[in-house]
Order: sequence, then C-alpha cells, then structure tokens
Amino acid sequence: MSDVKKMGVIGAGQMGGGIAQIAAVAGIDVVVFDAHAPALEKCTKTHQKLLARAVEKGRMEQSDCDAALARITYSPKWDDLANVDWAIEAVVEDATVKAEIFSKLATTLTNPNAVLATNTSSISITQIAAAADVAKPGTSSRVIGMHFFFPVPVMKLVEIIKGLQTDDAVVARTAALAERMGKTPLTANDRAGFVSNRVLMPMLNEAFYALMEGVAEPEAIDGIMKLGCNFPMGPLRLADFIGLDTCAHIMDVLAEGLNADRYRPCPLLRQLVAAGRLGNKTGHGVFDYTT
Ligand code: CAA
Repeated sequence: MSDVKKMGVIGAGQMGGGIAQIAAVAGIDVVVFDAHAPALEKCTKTHQKLLARAVEKGRMEQSDCDAALARITYSPKWDDLANVDWAIEAVVEDATVKAEIFSKLATTLTNPNAVLATNTSSISITQIAAAADVAKPGTSSRVIGMHFFFPVPVMKLVEIIKGLQTDDAVVARTAALAERMGKTPLTANDRAGFVSNRVLMPMLNEAFYALMEGVAEPEAIDGIMKLGCNFPMGPLRLADFIGLDTCAHIMDVLAEGLNADRYRPCPLLRQLVAAGRLGNKTGHGVFDYTT
C-alpha cells in the first residue's frame, strides 16, 4: 500500500485535473499548481462538477465528495510544492518546458525520498531525469514516467516508464500508488512513445492516410473500426478527442526517437493542425463540434 500523504500536481489542465481528482478521492492531500489563475479556476469547477455527478449517480457519498474536495488546494505559488512527497508534472508536451520544471522540482522538494513523476505521453524519461540531475545530482533515480489516459477518472491504465537511472524501488512505489488511485499499473521501458503511443499513434496516423487517399469517408473509417474492431471511438474521432496537434507531435517524437521516417505525421494531419483545426478543444478537427 502506498504511503503517499501529500501530492503536488504541476499543471491544472485536463490531465493534471484528472490526476488530482482521483488522488484526492484516494485520500491523498493534493496541491494543484498552475501559474495561470484561470486554469486553476476552471480546474476547481470541473472537480466540483464531476464529484457532484458521482454523488448523483450513487457512486459516492456526499461526505466522501466533500472530504475529497477539501483535500485539494489550488495554488499559483511554486513554493507551495516544497513539502509534497510525490510530484506529478502534467504540462504541455515540450521537452524544454519539462526540463525546466524538473530542474526546479529537484531543488524545491525538501523530502529526500520524494518522487518526481511525469505524465509525458512520449518524451524520454531519461532525458527529463537528466535535467533534474544537473540541478541536484542524484535526483534522476527518483524520476519516473507515470502516464495516465484521458479521461483520467474513467481510463483504467497507468503506464509506468522506467528511465535508465530510475531506482527499482521507485517503480514499485509508483505501481502501489497507481493501485491506490484505482488504476492498473503496467510497466514499459523508456523508448519513444513507450508502448501505448508506439502502437496507438501509427494506427491513428494511418486513418488520416486512408482519409487523405479517399479510401472512405470519415464516418465510414470510424464506423468500420468501431463496429469491426470493437473500439469505443473511431480513430479519427479519437484523434480529435486527444488533439490533432498532440497526435502530430507524438508522431514527430516517434520519427525522431526511433529514427524512422515511417512514423512522420500524415500530410493531412499536419495540414489540419496548420489550419488550427485541433479537434474538440477548438471546436473543429476532422469533425465539426460547433453545432
Ligand atoms: N472526464 C470525466 N469523465 C468523463 C469524461 C471526461 N472528460 N468523458 C466521459 N466521462 C465519463 C462520463 O461522465 C460517463 O460517466 P457516467 O457513467 O457517470 O455518466 C462515462 O465516462 C461514459 O461516458 P459517456 O456515456 O458520455 O460516453 P461513452 O460511453 O461513449 O464513453 C469514453 C466515453 C469513456 C470517452 C469512451 O468513448 C472511450 O473510452 N473512448 C476512448 C478513450 C481513449 O481511448 N482514451 C485514451 C486516449 S490516449 C491518451 O489519453 C494517452 C495519450 O498519450 C495520447
């Protein structure tokens, strides 16, 4: 059983918010840090809404909902993270931004056993850990990938990624924490895209090639994969749901990290991103969500 008492979540977006919510429900005190105040406000409202819904649906007692909400504090002050015993970073997929955060975490966290986890979906854990080590030598053994899936409260998996220098005890502690948060942990090594996105993203990319080549209409591509393979969502709708910019970015990481052009993003995917059609979050991707 994990003995984590206080968790810091860096980034109040959809992933960070989801992680904070399930941690609080599991009895852990959580500080959600985001430098952007409107993101903190939105995250607070989402927590209230989703937990109230869990009560309405009979999945949670009102007293447990109140207790979970009371465990979460929302802060724009970096120093409020100092005394956490577990940090999870869930900011934008940008290696430079993550390196900065991990070097700051390495010097901010006061507990010498605190774990520094990242929710990255494809960036090298070893590379992120190296930035922490430069700031404070020896920290890289406590850096690990803890990859959640969207929507976090619904999806059962946590993909654990062991960097080259991650301590085995930290892997075991991460698996115990994931289980305490109601998830099933499965471990992968640190190769571009890990397992989930190494397998998922080329499939989504191929659906864009099928669309670009006129193999079928978008509804037919999605319908064939939903009904024929029992997917909960077709690949094009799932790409919209994840964000087309994120999908293109992950394909670029695969192409670079695995040194193979076959992973390059489909030209149609790149074109939609260039047009600002990023999926659900902008109201339009492959499909239109504005009507
Ligand atoms: N946040 C919280 N809960 C959500 C949610 C969200 N954004 N979206 C849906 N849910 C909940 C709903 O509230 C609902 O719960 P209730 O029983 O309380 O109503 C439940 O999920 C089912 O939702 P719906 O009935 O509205 O719709 P559905 O049955 O079609 O399920 C879905 C929605 C769970 C999203 C389903 O379509 C699905 O599993 N899709 C695939 C999701 C997927 O593949 N995610 C992984 C993406 S890859 C990734 O995240 C990693 C990466 O690195 C890119």
